[in-house]
Amino acid sequence: MFKKVPGTKDILPDQTGLWQKIEGTSRKIFAIYNYSEIRTPFIEETALFNRSLGESTEIVQKQMFIIKRDEDSYALRPEGTASIVRAYVENSLDKTKGFLKLYYMGPMFRAERPQKGRLRQFNQIGCEAIGSYGPDIDVEVIALADALLKRYGVKDYTIALNTLGCAQDKKTLNDLLKNKLEDKLGGLCDDCKDRYSRNILRILDCKNEACRDIVNHLQIGREHLCPDCKAHFEYVKQGLDVMKVDYKVMPTLVRGLDYYNRTVFEIKHSGLGPQQDALGAGGRYDGLVKELGGPEAGAIGFSFGFERLLLALESAAAPDQAKDIPKLVYVIPLGEAAKKQSLVILSGLRDSAAIVSDTSANYSGNSLKSAMRKAGDLGAAFVIIIGDDEIRGNCVTLKDMANKTQEKVPMAGLKEKLGIIQQKES
Ligand code: HAM
Repeated sequence: MFKKVPGTKDILPDQTGLWQKIEGTSRKIFAIYNYSEIRTPFIEETALFNRSLGESTEIVQKQMFIIKRDEDSYALRPEGTASIVRAYVENSLDKTKGFLKLYYMGPMFRAERPQKGRLRQFNQIGCEAIGSYGPDIDVEVIALADALLKRYGVKDYTIALNTLGCAQDKKTLNDLLKNKLEDKLGGLCDDCKDRYSRNILRILDCKNEACRDIVNHLQIGREHLCPDCKAHFEYVKQGLDVMKVDYKVMPTLVRGLDYYNRTVFEIKHSGLGPQQDALGAGGRYDGLVKELGGPEAGAIGFSFGFERLLLALESAAAPDQAKDIPKLVYVIPLGEAAKKQSLVILSGLRDSAAIVSDTSANYSGNSLKSAMRKAGDLGAAFVIIIGDDEIRGNCVTLKDMANKTQEKVPMAGLKEKLGIIQQKES
C-alpha cells in the first residue's frame, strides 16, 4: 500500500468544509480591503529564491525541493513573495498598475523535518502591497492580518512588531552584533555559531535557551536606526494604536529571509508550541522589486500558515461546522419506473432549485431499509421516497428526518416545498 510522503497531508472530505470556509472568509475580507487575487506557478527558477531570500538563509541552504532538467534548475516554491514580485516585474505591472494590492493562497514546499505544525507541503494565505514606501500601508497590512484572524475566530494571538531599519541600519546592526558576540561564541548553539558568519541577525531570534540568555544580555537598543526609520516605525505604531490593533514591540524579532527591511511582524500563538509558534509573518521588502529587475518600489506583505491556523482554531473551541453544511435531500426510488422518475426530480432539484441532493439509485441493490440507513449516514435532512403508489398519484413521500414526520407532496409543489423548508432552516 502506498503512503503519503512524510510532511504532506490528505485533506479529507470531512475537513474540506472548514478549508473552504477559511478560504471564503479570506477572499471576502481581501476584497473588502481592495486586494485582487494573483496565482503564480508552483515551480520557479531556483535562482529566483536564491536571489530573493538570500543565499545564506536556512530555506535556500537546506530546505528547497530542487528539480534538475538538463541544464535547468527549478525549485518548488518555498514561499510566495519572490514569485509575486517576479510576476509583478515580468508582466510590467509597475507600468500598467503602479501601486498594487494582491492576495494569494496555495501550497508552498520546504524540506523541513516534519512535526506538528511543520510540514513539507503546507499552504499559505497571504497578501502583498507593492509600490509604496509610506508607513500607511504598513498599518493597513497589519490591521488586515488582525481583521482576518478575528474573522477566522482565532483567539489568544500576539502580534510581535519590530523594525529592522533600512539596508544601512541593518548593516550597522550586523557590525554591532559581530562586536558584541565575538567573545560569547562558545556559549551559542551550533546553529548560531554557524549563523555568526552567515546570517548573524538570526541569532537574535534563536529559540535555544542559552542563546536567548546571551541575546537578552546584549542590550541591543535602537541606536542602529536612522532618524527616517525611527519616524517610520513611530508612525506605524501610532496608526495601529488608532486602529486599536494590539501589538507588542519585540526588539529581537528578525526574520529568516534576507529581503526584509524596516517593519517586520510575526503573529504568535501559544497553542502551536514553542518551536514553531508563528501563525503568520510578514514585513517590508523595499529592495526586492529592484533586485529582481524592476523599478524602485517599496512593498510589504504577510502570509499565514493555513495548517497552523487550523491548529490554533482546534486549540480553542471546535468551530461549529454543521450549520454551514447545506441540507441534503436524499431521493430513494423503489423499482425501475421510480428510478426514471427520480432522475427527473433530481435534475429539477439540482439544476433549477440548486438544492443539494443525491440518490440511492447510485448504490446498487438497495432495499428501502439500507437506503434509509445510507440517508442517515449522509446526514440527509429530507428523504424523498418514490414507489408505484407515488408514481400513480403523481406525488412523492417526503420524510423530514429531524422531526421524523412524513407526508405526501404533489410533484408540482415539491421544489417549492423543499425550497421553503431549506430557506427557513438556513
Ligand atoms: P515565513 O515566515 O517563512 O514567511 O512563512 C509564513 C508562515 O507560513 C509562517 O508563519 C507559518 O505559519 C507558515 N509556515 C512556514 N513554514 C511552514 C512549514 N514548514 N509548515 C507549516 N507552516 C509553515 C514567508 O513565507 C513570507 N513570504 C511572508 C511574507 C509575505 N512576507 C512578506 N510578504
